[in-house]
This record gives sequence, structure tokens and C-alpha cells, in this order.
Amino acid sequence: MPRLIHKLIPLFTFLFLFFSLITNAAATTTITQQFKEAPQFYNSPDCPSIDQDEMEPEPDGDNTIFCSEHAVHVAMTLDAAYIRGSMAAILSVLQHTSCPQNIAFHFVASASANASLLRATISSSFPYLKFRVYTFDDSSVSGLISTSIRSALDCPLNYARSYLANILPLCVRRVVYLDSDLVLVDDIAKLAATPLGEKSVLAAPEYCNANFTSYFTPTFWSNPSLSLTFADRRPCYFNTGVMVIDLDRWREGDYTTKIEEWMELQKRMRIYELGFIAAILASFCRRYSAS
Ligand SMILES: *[C@@H]1O[C@H](CO)[C@@H](O)[C@H](O)[C@H]1NC(C)=O
Ligand SMILES: *[C@@H]1O[C@H](CO)[C@@H](O)[C@H](O)[C@H]1NC(C)=O
Repeated sequence: MPRLIHKLIPLFTFLFLFFSLITNAAATTTITQQFKEAPQFYNSPDCPSIDQDEMEPEPDGDNTIFCSEHAVHVAMTLDAAYIRGSMAAILSVLQHTSCPQNIAFHFVASASANASLLRATISSSFPYLKFRVYTFDDSSVSGLISTSIRSALDCPLNYARSYLANILPLCVRRVVYLDSDLVLVDDIAKLAATPLGEKSVLAAPEYCNANFTSYFTPTFWSNPSLSLTFADRRPCYFNTGVMVIDLDRWREGDYTTKIEEWMELQKRMRIYELGFIAAILASFCRRYSAS
């Protein structure tokens, strides 16, 4: 039986350096840091041409990449409080790929953020970057968030990753989601090309020494219909900070709704301890058991 969540072997060649950026979850409306301008990065000769496969270039010229199947689509959240991490992540993506001009960045900002300020900050450091900024209506999710032990996890923008299938245009069919606190040291194109097999919805780094007992509350374990979610499974979890998502399959399976359902259940019953990650886990396990 194909596994829904693939073990992502190529990912282990990537080294992620974590910054301690989780300092202040409060909305920041100004950006005080200064960032240098990055140089332009050029494709190597054997990169696929983005322009060639597009029949009708849009008037402003650069738009074609945002729907191109030959582009590597990268999604990240953008927030003034974590902008330093985003800058480092973007630079690391461009520096280590052989086709930097084929990368389309899809940034998701909170609807309450100053999107023009974020856009201007990115543009001034990366004048050649192909990016779009989408707004995420946090109010849609803030009602679903339960107070958890880690307040940073309760920031609505953290949940944007489970709405990517709705936020990004339908023509984007596969995306690499990256948290804004990591640095890539290998070509993101390799990561984006991770085979998902016939059924998998996403690929993410998997950890199999997990002790689920402590992730979920006694309420969860004492309810047979809930705890059976993980019956006969190895106690693996996956890191939602790096995901290769097949957006077509995600949309087809309506995982956004499934995750919302687990979040609603959490609000009512408090079934997990680790915030949102457990909701995603549970959503995919249910799907797996049904297939
Ligand atoms: C957003 O940022 C711009 C600077 O790029 C500033 O001029 C503007 O006043 C800000 N808007 C709000 C609502 O803070
Ligand atoms: C898992 O954690 C629970 C409590 O958090 C503990 O009682 C149990 O012994 C742990 N199991 C393993 C296999 O480490």
C-alpha cells in the first residue's frame, strides 16, 4: 500500500540551520533591520526555459513564471517580525540552485500586515526576485486556534501552510513550503522533484522515534474512536516546516477542511499538546487508514 507521507531521503542531504527568531509573536508594523542588496543570480545553460512553454505572455512580462510547470514554486509566510529569517531563507534558496531564475516565490502575509512594506523590503534586497505576496485572512483561522503551550504556534500565520491550496492560483500544482527560519544548503529543485508516488499528497522529513503519548492528551487516548487514528502505525511524525505538496491532490482530498475539523475538535476537547502539528498528523493518518 502506498504510503501517504513519504520518507524524504533527499532531504537528509539538506542541512537546516535554525535561528532563534521566535522572540515576539506580536504584530510588528515596522521593519527596523537593514538588509543588503543581493546580487542577481543567473540560470546555468541547461535550465528549462520558462518563456518557451508559455503561449501568452502577460503584459507585465514576468507573470508567466507564476503558473509555469517548469518553475520551482516556493511558498513561505512573510511577517515583519520574522523578516530576517525570510531574507536568509530566500538567499539560501537562490545561492544553491542552478536555476535561480526559474524560482517563483509565493509569499503569504497576514491580511493585517502592511503588504506594501513587506513587498518593498523584499524588492529592495532582491530586485530580481520573482515573487508575489498573497494575503491570508487570519480571522478565518483565529477562531479555530486553541491556546497552546507554545504561543508562537498560535500565531494565525502559522496556519497559512494548510491553506496554500486555496491561497495559491489553481495553476500552481506543486509547491515547496518552507518555514522562514531555515537555510537551504542544496538545490531546491531536487527537493521540489521529490517523487510522491501514485497517491502521496506531500513529502516531509519524517521522524520515527516519537513518543505520541505526550503529544496527545489523556482525553484523546481514552476515546477509542480518536486514538484508533494511530492504531498499527509506527510512531512517526513529520516536520511541517519543510513540505513538498501536491496541491492538486490536496485540493482533491480537501485536506484544508480535514485539518480544520481536527482543530475544531481540539477547541472542544483539547486532544493534543503540540498545537497545530498534531492536527495535520491526525488528518493524514485518517486519510491513510481510509485508503
Ligand atoms: C505601510 O508601509 C509604507 C512604507 O512602505 C508606509 O508608507 C505606510 O504608511 C504603511 N501603512 C500603514 C497602514 O502602516
Ligand atoms: C512516552 O511518554 C510517556 C509519558 O509522557 C511515558 O509514560 C512513556 O513511558 C513513554 N514511552 C516511551 C516508549 O518512551
